[in-house]
Parts: sequence; C-alpha cells; structure tokens
Amino acid sequence: MMGEPKIRARGVAKHYRANNLDVRALDPLDLEIYEGEFVCLLGPSGCGKSTLLRMVAGLVTPSAGTLHMDGRLITRPSPERGLVFQEYALFPWMTVLRNVMYGPSVRGLGRAKAEQLARDQIARVGLEGFENHFPSQLSGGMKQRVGIARVWANQPDVLLMDEPFGALDSITRNVLQRDLLGLWMQERRTILFVTHSVEEAIYLADRIVVMSARPGRITAIVPIDAPRPRNLLDQDSIALRAHLTGLVEAQVIATSGGRIAAKSAVGGYVE
Ligand SMILES: Nc1ncnc2c1ncn2[C@@H]1O[C@H](COP(=O)(O)OP(=O)(O)OP(=O)(O)O)[C@@H](O)[C@H]1O
Ligand SMILES: [Mg+2]
Repeated sequence: MMGEPKIRARGVAKHYRANNLDVRALDPLDLEIYEGEFVCLLGPSGCGKSTLLRMVAGLVTPSAGTLHMDGRLITRPSPERGLVFQEYALFPWMTVLRNVMYGPSVRGLGRAKAEQLARDQIARVGLEGFENHFPSQLSGGMKQRVGIARVWANQPDVLLMDEPFGALDSITRNVLQRDLLGLWMQERRTILFVTHSVEEAIYLADRIVVMSARPGRITAIVPIDAPRPRNLLDQDSIALRAHLTGLVEAQVIATSGGRIAAKSAVGGYVE
C-alpha cells in the first residue's frame, strides 16, 4: 500500500517489572497500518497483544521504539483513538443514551447535537428503544453494542478493539461481528482488533498479524482479499483456517513445552 501509514510502529518493545519479575512482553516489532484498514492481531495468550493495543492507545509507554499516528508521535490517549475492551466498559449509573452521549458531550458538542448523534448511533447498533435502560438491564451482547456505539459516536480515526466479543456466546458473537463489519463498510475507520479466534480474524480482517508466544514478535502477516461478507465454510477459508491455526498452535506448543498449557490468572501460559 502507498502513502503515509495511519499507524506506524518502529522497533516497539515492552518489558514489565512487577513483583521482582521481569517480563519481556514484546520484542521490538515494526508494523504499519493504513487508513481504513481492518487489521486483526492474532496470537497466543500472554504474547503482548493487549500491551501493543494499549501502547497504540497511548495508555502504556513503550520501553523502546516509537509509535506514530499520521506521522505524529503517540504520547498519550486521544479521542482520535477509541478503545473497546473485552469487559463492557460502560458507566453503570448512566443510561444507554447517557453512556453514548458522554464522549460527544465531553468533546463540547451541544446537548441537542450530542443526543441526536447518540440516538443515531444507538439505532445503528440495533438498540433503538433501549435508550433509557441501564447497563445492568442489558444482556452481554447488548452491552457490547453500547460499547461500540459509544466509541463510534466519538468518530475516532482509529478503533482499537481488545477481544470485544470474547465473552459472548458464539451466535451473539457472529451477529456482532457481522454488524461491526456493516458499520465499518459504511464508514471506513481504521480498526486494530485483537482476537484469539482464527475464524473471527478470517471473517473480519484485511490483514492478519500473527504473533509469537511471549516475548511477542510478528511471525506472519497474512492478507485476505476475499470479498465480504465471507463464508467461513468455503474452500479458501478452510485452507486459511488450517494454515493460521497451525501458525498459532505452533506458538502455544512452543510456550508450554509440548505439555498441556493452562491459562494463568495473569494471562500467561503456565505449565
Ligand atoms: N501492567 C503490567 N505489569 C506487569 N506485567 C504486565 C502488565 N501488563 C501485562 N503484563 C505482562 O505482559 C505479558 C503480556 O500481557 P498482555 O496482556 O499484553 O498479553 P495478551 O497477548 O493480551 O494476552 P491475552 O490473550 O491473555 O489477553 C504477560 O506476561 C503479562 O503478565
Ligand atoms: Mg489481552
């Protein structure tokens, strides 16, 4: 692809020191993401996917290297980069409407405009009629729809999504994937989307960035040109799924020494 990338990572690395333990979360990596691209980060648990996303968000500072957006160094969070977490990060004391209005109001949009924008956004994620519900009155899938509406209402240039559908049942997850894709096809925002799921990545991505086990490195970048919506049961998808599953499993096996790996509370694999 041509031109200046939307996001550029150069030699970005991260190590953490906590409780007398040094963890090399990410080894230096280079990555370019272009305007309007949908990029999925795929890799085993603990390989630094969330760390990378948080660095792009400006919430975590790299130990080495630089991150730029539109040629400007990322040093702190910005509404230009909206973050959607796995947990539904909603304000429990606010209604759906207030939750979605929050960002536009903080940005200084007048009340009437913020409300109109929020109502449009709520309708676009299929929650018309639920404006006055509180998060506790919604299902998990609905909460995540609000999460997406809330971030989308800020009209960020870049959406950073950290396993947003990870906690949902597979049918709800499929519906949300389809709806997210619909939103993205209407308004091509740049999306960096973290997932464990090979199928999810094949369904969504223009490019899949496959990461190694910790310390995370990029082991492969797989472009997908197939038109959308994609059929995960066609021959190309099946072949791609086998290929990607092989790449990720090789990394999980490498970490667990070939033994059965169990996910630890801190997100790494322990034996
Ligand atoms: N704030 C922190 N302090 C210390 N160590 C951390 C911190 N955040 C992450 N780590 C460590 O960095 C490594 C990578 O964590 P990260 O959350 O980025 O992995 P991940 O790929 O998102 O994993 P998962 O797929 O399980 O979400 C882990 O070993 C983790 O323990
Ligand atoms: Mg994570």
